[in-house]
Amino acid sequence: MTLNFDPTELFVDTSATSAIVIDRSYKIAVAGTGYVGLSLAVLLAQHNQVIAVDIIPEKVEKLNNCISPVQDEYIEKYLSEARSGKRRLDLRATTDGTAAYADADLIVVAAPTNYDPKQNFFD
Ligand SMILES: NC(=O)c1ccc[n+]([C@@H]2O[C@H](COP(=O)([O-])OP(=O)(O)OC[C@H]3O[C@@H](n4cnc5c(N)ncnc54)[C@H](O)[C@@H]3O)[C@@H](O)[C@H]2O)c1
Repeated sequence: MTLNFDPTELFVDTSATSAIVIDRSYKIAVAGTGYVGLSLAVLLAQHNQVIAVDIIPEKVEKLNNCISPVQDEYIEKYLSEARSGKRRLDLRATTDGTAAYADADLIVVAAPTNYDPKQNFFD
């Protein structure tokens, strides 16, 4: 049996693809300030305008005072350096997801994937 196509058609010449150019600061909203969301928020806030969203007001208040709501060596280090003025982070936190998402170029979702085994359903 012969193929009715040329197998080389399956390959893509990636050398012709231009590199992604990140040439400006983006407005980024991050939903969830747990380990995943906060790591990303802190890293992205070095070069972008980041708003971290959480449903727990105490976490939001801590973040707005550059105090980490999670125990993590690097997140704590970066936030404490931002607090002392040693590091520039464009990061603020809010419980107002609606406003943050409406104003964002990009939204990162790092909220829990809580599964209800009784209903067999993800919230
Ligand atoms: N931690 C990991 O190593 C890991 C690895 C792979 C995938 N994940 C996935 O990434 C996601 C986040 O994980 P994590 O460890 O950071 O979780 P986490 O429990 O540490 O943090 C989640 C945060 O989201 C907040 N939150 C809950 N509902 C929200 C809502 N509606 N809007 C905004 N914030 C909300 C919570 O208050 C909490 O602060 C989960 O879906 C998890 O399954 C985690």
